[in-house]
Amino acid sequence: MTEQSGQTPTLDNLSTESRVFAPADDFSAAANVGAAAYEQGTADREAFWAEQADRLSWDTRWERVLDWDDAPFAKWFVGGKLNVAANCVDRHVEAGLGDRVAIHWVGEPGDSRAITYADLLREVSKTANALTELGLEAGDRVAIQMPMIPEAIFSMLACARLGLVHSVVFGGFSSAALRSRIDDAQARLLITSDGQYRRGAPAPMKDNTDEATAHTPSIEHVLVVRRTGGEVKWTDGRDLWWHEVVDRQAETHEAQPFDAEHPLFILYTSGTTGNPKGILHTSGGYLTQASYTHHAVFDLKPETDVYWCTADIGWITGHSYIVYGPLSNGVTQVVYEGTPNTPHEGRHWEIIQEHKVSIYYTAPTLIRTFMKWGADIPARYDLSSLRVLGSVGEPINPEAWIWYRENVGANRTPIVDTWWQTETGAIMISPLPGVTHTKPGSAQRALPGISAKVVDDQGVEVGKGGGGYLVLDQPWPSMLRGIWGDNDRYRDTYWSRFADLGFYFAGDGAKYDADGDIWLLGRVDDVMNVSGHRISTTEVESALVSHPTVAEAAVVGASDPTTGQGIVAFVILRGSAKPDDSTVKTLRDHVATEIGPIAKPRQVLIVNELPKTRSGKIMRRLLRDVAENRAIGDTTTLADSAVMDLISTGLKSTT
Ligand code: WTA
Repeated sequence: MTEQSGQTPTLDNLSTESRVFAPADDFSAAANVGAAAYEQGTADREAFWAEQADRLSWDTRWERVLDWDDAPFAKWFVGGKLNVAANCVDRHVEAGLGDRVAIHWVGEPGDSRAITYADLLREVSKTANALTELGLEAGDRVAIQMPMIPEAIFSMLACARLGLVHSVVFGGFSSAALRSRIDDAQARLLITSDGQYRRGAPAPMKDNTDEATAHTPSIEHVLVVRRTGGEVKWTDGRDLWWHEVVDRQAETHEAQPFDAEHPLFILYTSGTTGNPKGILHTSGGYLTQASYTHHAVFDLKPETDVYWCTADIGWITGHSYIVYGPLSNGVTQVVYEGTPNTPHEGRHWEIIQEHKVSIYYTAPTLIRTFMKWGADIPARYDLSSLRVLGSVGEPINPEAWIWYRENVGANRTPIVDTWWQTETGAIMISPLPGVTHTKPGSAQRALPGISAKVVDDQGVEVGKGGGGYLVLDQPWPSMLRGIWGDNDRYRDTYWSRFADLGFYFAGDGAKYDADGDIWLLGRVDDVMNVSGHRISTTEVESALVSHPTVAEAAVVGASDPTTGQGIVAFVILRGSAKPDDSTVKTLRDHVATEIGPIAKPRQVLIVNELPKTRSGKIMRRLLRDVAENRAIGDTTTLADSAVMDLISTGLKSTT
């Protein structure tokens, strides 16, 4: 692994994990996908994906399944045309399912809304008509920063319907982060809300977007949903209320087909260096894989299941497994606006009980939080409707996996630990619940039609029991099509590491166990994973050095029992700056303002020196040893080997 290896040491106990859980016979017998799919996917990958693409309605059939001639720029379902939104909405209504609830929306303060597929069609049509009235045309970019309210989903689908490219920015991101994303994509419209409910109280949202849009000349209009009724500042001519513009629109809208490779959305994610990358996804291949994986991995039965994914639409999981996967499959799902402990720590279990949720998909960090709150809380609710549990976002430690199965899944439900990324667009490695004998902590095996390998530095596949880098050695339908406006960065970031072999470098470490199953070990680059959110060490370092008192900063992700990793910053103050009691708080708050509260360091340690190699590279490995209270590792490559002593002694005298 590299010097900056971000491997999560909490997973060291993997080698001793040997529990295996076979699927129940009745579950396997009724499962959507059986073991034969693996052979089909390998025997003829393109034929396999063509069959999955037939899950969708195409206006024009494709001429070629995959065009990889210009690798790493892929084209899937070449020549095919479809409308993504019509596939998620209209066709279900046309099939007579208009009365089926698409979304049981649950507001944090207790309000709720049941939206049928027929309602969804009306709302998306009205929104599309409004966006057309605002002069937007296919290919234009629309930024969306919204809480988890139905209008967020209407907005995404209206964009898809019109061939507009949405760029959803997580509600917790700062105005600076929103501004840079709007600028990078040159968005013409921003959709937001006056405020949002968070932890039982209304909090402003438009204040944040106003700060961003004060400096974004590309934005012509800001469309504002009234959610909390709080005071907002208003810019006449630019700002428009949703209820004034959308509500009066016609309830029908004719969807036009778009090319399979028409851009669907951009989603920004942290990379190792520089600004966040605008990951670009397109239409036909993306929807095919989002739809198929949702059907296969969750064993989805749209007639009877009630599905709930707890992600936010600001992340890829919300895109693929709240909006596009589930809606293309016509299932009924729960969408919850708020925090899991508002008004009490049993809120999720109460929602599962009330709506008879049968498939629940969440993140390890939340499972560990539930563990902290205590098993007696889920025990108070009737969770017997659950039949599949999912996990995503970071490696799940075996203890959390077992707790999840015992306390939420009644020792009965299969758990699918799904590995994928913003870049992969959809799930890549995961058990199939009716086939796989699951192992706590392992994502296990590439899905049918997908190929993944663990390789060494040279790109040679390691043997059973061996560890190395995770690569994807075959193109897949929902793969990113590039980084918005930066083809070179796309090639460099993902395809240069194993250029001769044509492997996609995922940035994750992984190993095979004795059966050849894959265990993910965390990032091998400078990307941290905090509560399943990707944040790069460089981003936080830049935020810190932008503060006038900071001379230099080095940031590491230290293992954390709840959040997976916690951000620990080592900061050298400028000569004249004297640390006092408020310095640490000021710097933590500064990072929250610059990037967003999710990036707020868990600890800021003021030091006099940083450990560097002779070439000036900061040795984060050593800082991580300090942050995790371990004995300091090998310091022989340090330019000045006394530095670590200085840091350790300095810390002891300040704490
Ligand atoms: C990590 C989230 C282990 C991994 C869908 C990846 C995981 C990054 C898992 C992508 C998992 C996600 N097991 N690690 N099941 N799922 N990761 O782009 O490091 O927000 O590279 O996509 O999360 O994060 P992203």
